Amino acid sequence: MTSRTSRDVLRRGLSVLGRAIREQPRIFAVAVSGSVLFGGLVIASAYVVGAVVGDVVVPAIARGSVGVAALALAAGALFGISVLRVVGIFGRRLGAGYMQFRLQAAYRRQVTRRYLELPLSWHQRNATGTLLSNANSDVEAAWYPIAPLPFAVGTVVMLVGAIASLFVTDWALALVGLAVFPALFALNVIYSRRMAPRQARAQRLRAEVSGIAHESFDGALVVKTMGREAQETARFAARAGELRDALISVGRLRGVFDPMLETLPSLGTLAVLVVGAFRLRQGAITVTDLVSVAFLFTVLAFPVRAIGWVLAELPRSVAGWDRVRRVLDATGEMPYGDVTLDPADPTPATLAFADVGFAYEPAEAHLPGAEVLGEVTFTVPAGRTVALVGPTGSGKSTIAALAVRLVDPHTGTVSLDGVDVRRLTAASLAGTAALVAQVPFVFDDTVRANIALDRPGVTDDDVWAALRLAEADGFVAALPEGLDTMVGERGTSLSGGQRQRLTLARALAGRPRLLVLDDATSAVDPRVEAAILAGLRAPAAGGPAASILVVAYRRATIALADEVIYLEQGRVIARGTHAELLATVPGYADLVTAYEQAEADGEQQPRPYDEVAPLTSGLEVEVDR
Ligand SMILES: Nc1ncnc2c1ncn2[C@@H]1O[C@H](COP(=O)(O)OP(=O)(O)OP(=O)(O)O)[C@@H](O)[C@H]1O
Ligand SMILES: [Mg+2]
Repeated sequence: MTSRTSRDVLRRGLSVLGRAIREQPRIFAVAVSGSVLFGGLVIASAYVVGAVVGDVVVPAIARGSVGVAALALAAGALFGISVLRVVGIFGRRLGAGYMQFRLQAAYRRQVTRRYLELPLSWHQRNATGTLLSNANSDVEAAWYPIAPLPFAVGTVVMLVGAIASLFVTDWALALVGLAVFPALFALNVIYSRRMAPRQARAQRLRAEVSGIAHESFDGALVVKTMGREAQETARFAARAGELRDALISVGRLRGVFDPMLETLPSLGTLAVLVVGAFRLRQGAITVTDLVSVAFLFTVLAFPVRAIGWVLAELPRSVAGWDRVRRVLDATGEMPYGDVTLDPADPTPATLAFADVGFAYEPAEAHLPGAEVLGEVTFTVPAGRTVALVGPTGSGKSTIAALAVRLVDPHTGTVSLDGVDVRRLTAASLAGTAALVAQVPFVFDDTVRANIALDRPGVTDDDVWAALRLAEADGFVAALPEGLDTMVGERGTSLSGGQRQRLTLARALAGRPRLLVLDDATSAVDPRVEAAILAGLRAPAAGGPAASILVVAYRRATIALADEVIYLEQGRVIARGTHAELLATVPGYADLVTAYEQAEADGEQQPRPYDEVAPLTSGLEVEVDR
């Protein structure tokens, strides 16, 4: 590492510390006051000890008797200083702790809030493990040096005070101090410079190890069923080994520098005794002076280390902060507009795609993004049901995501009730359109919480109504604790079809005016699927009046739609009723018939509910790695 980059780390590290101080100035002031009080008392205690030895002990030895009054005074002074020192330590520790943990909590909140604001395209580019380590170890690392910072600041004040007091005592002893203290400081700086690249590397590896672990646990199903335990273990072991080596190299450097940092003050004390003995003989100083200064060197050694702690943690802090900043400064945010749609409007919404084109961002920036959709134009008129049919990879999920504005089109517009979705407020969007995704996501919470999601005004009655529409009231009523049943992480205690119906009920409970079902009932048996859709289409049954865009495969389901849009490779190939398409579009007939054939052959789930959905990668369980 060149000295320029290490200077750069020092500069950036100090600016991170500056930010911390600006954010918590009062607590920092308390902590530094405690530390300065402590520092002043350390110097004072050295002189009191000197006075006790020079003015009480030495005369007592000479006389053969102890002056009780002088002894009591000395003891009282030392006791008083100790008590005040405790106050200083208490103030410093409490302040530093408050400051560190407050900053950690604040930034953890900021990072996680930012995750939720960032668009899907950003999440698709960033691994979940990295996000976890950004919010955990990176935030922690960024504020590590805060713990010793007040101590270090107090120590700098103390060192200046110590050298000044040395000059007052004796210039020769002061010169020893001027040689030792700056050397100690310099050694600390060299130490932290050496440490910088090692700490940065360790911090990066920590994130990578956590990323791999997260991925293997998340994909436990595949790892087990495909017998990939050994390979996964090896992949993890390799990176864990690198982390171990990085940490060992950190430890080795510590092993070299720590003893040097210990030794230097002892050498200083030795120098003080040698020089001091001469000066004593010359009559330039008293025994009191010599003992005070020697004691000062001994007690200063420890606090000076605090400066080293801060400097040594700076690189790690900068590395952590850079990674936190990357999240906080991430662009690609979806700006919302300010047009609102009436939330109480009971009529279904109209969805229109006009000439929509879309391409996913390439995995690597230099690759071109392949077009996934082109010139897609269609309308879901108010209150109507439109089915989206197409072979796998034809862009159905992409259209579903565009319809609820998880992503924005590259060309053309998507509009709700004639308003470009980009002009709507976030609340209007969420209140108007609901997506039931291809991969159901269930929170580790109760059935009720999963459906109501804390939305105001969603009562238990609404929850049950939504469950009825999703044909889920039967199984929920049969659960041991009904709505209060905990469903386990990602809904592991539920079957695939139950999970799908729970997420459908969640969408329905918000009374959306447009419902987008992306293959949302694939794990439910065909009769129930048809019953669900029939119920949704008939508001008389008590359901919300919604327009429906449904990605479907089964003939019975498709037949319920008012119109079918047939896609191939991101283009609308044909549109019409099911019967029309069946008669006129060979590709469509093949697809629908093949699917039916597969189901009839007993392939219960040709499209398992937890198959990889490319669109949701990075957000959901991605089992098929
Ligand atoms: N996050 C992504 N990054 C890059 N390409 C993607 C991403 N998600 C999807 N794609 C690509 O976009 C195309 C359309 O995907 P989409 O998920 O919309 O298809 P689909 O019709 O829903 O397929 P399926 O029936 O299998 O669910 C596919 O070629 C897919 O490989
Ligand atoms: Mg899909």
